[in-house]
Amino acid sequence: MKGVYFDNASTSWPKAPGVASEMAGYLENIGCNVGRGSYERAYTVARKVYDTREKLCSLFDGEDNKNVIFTANVTQAVNMVLKGFLRQGDHVLISGLEHNAVVRPLEHLKRVGVTYDVIPCDNLGNLEIACIEKMIKPETKAVVMTHGSNVSGSILPIEAVGRICRSQGLYFIVDAAQTAGLHDISMKRANISALCFTGHKGLMGPQGIGGFLVTDDLAEQMDPLLYGGTGSVSDQLDMPDFLPDRFEAGTLNLPGIYGLSSALDYLCSVDKSELLMVEERLTSTFIRGVEAIDGLRLVGNVDIQSRCALVSVECLTRDNAQIAFELDRDYGIMTRVGMHCAPLAHRTLGTYPQGTLRFSFNHFNTQGEVAYALEALQKLTAE
Ligand SMILES: Cc1ncc(COP(=O)(O)O)c(C=O)c1O
Repeated sequence: MKGVYFDNASTSWPKAPGVASEMAGYLENIGCNVGRGSYERAYTVARKVYDTREKLCSLFDGEDNKNVIFTANVTQAVNMVLKGFLRQGDHVLISGLEHNAVVRPLEHLKRVGVTYDVIPCDNLGNLEIACIEKMIKPETKAVVMTHGSNVSGSILPIEAVGRICRSQGLYFIVDAAQTAGLHDISMKRANISALCFTGHKGLMGPQGIGGFLVTDDLAEQMDPLLYGGTGSVSDQLDMPDFLPDRFEAGTLNLPGIYGLSSALDYLCSVDKSELLMVEERLTSTFIRGVEAIDGLRLVGNVDIQSRCALVSVECLTRDNAQIAFELDRDYGIMTRVGMHCAPLAHRTLGTYPQGTLRFSFNHFNTQGEVAYALEALQKLTAE
């Protein structure tokens, strides 16, 4: 039986070539900390960490290398930005497609008097951008928005929203969990004040490493969420007032940074638009196939230009979870079923509470695998 991995939106696999050996190389041959020891080997690690910030800053067109902050994942990054920045009385706008990584911290912040409203999206996942200006209140501080929905696959128009934020004097905080990697994201063009990313999805690095890129302007408004040792200005009891140390208490995930660095090298060495086209073709074949199967309903847009490489479907004849189970047991096809940690998105898309069955691709997948999954779906939904 084949093993077909269609759960790349959850975490990508395989990882970029070189990631595993780079991490093993660090653990086996280097292994020391950064910013602590005063010996040549520690400086080698410091250079690697610095270079990785530089690669991320260049990939996302950020302000400066020092403004790249490492965290464990995008969830931690979003928490650090929102909790570090928002104060009692502040209001933010979010989209109707947000993941719990955004919604749960905001729900928690309600306890300290932060409020939020949801910019509507239609039931295909298209943002009703014309609503934004009417929803802004005197106390609105920011728009917080996912770039790619992990349920409908919709890509939200961040450059257009960024223009509104610029004209209205709002900060713009973007969750790029599903798009960081092959998709072109420019913080400057989209006027993004904080771009939150995770290393283990489209960036094709390991789990446990992520971060955010922040502008000086927003960083000045933020308090750290974590306090502790940074290896710098250790004579002081306060956190350093400079970046990135201000937001990086405790030892960094160095194996993760080595792995991510290698993944970023891979992304630099390939033609990203070519690989994006490979993913678009897989997505488009899958969508056309789903539309031809009576027992399935496609969730979200048919148009692949405004989509990332993931497709949610609803099974009309049988339980989604049963189909996911049989896809794995009988065909070796790995998918994800349920809420995908995004109940708000399901309410928007009309798939709450039943959830969806999600297929997510990367450019290592093949047209043959997509055809195999469609054949399996045809049989399973007809049973
Ligand atoms: C849109 C979005 N935001 C946030 C996350 C959370 O990612 P992580 O678990 O790496 O923090 C995900 C992961 O599914 C996601 O799809």
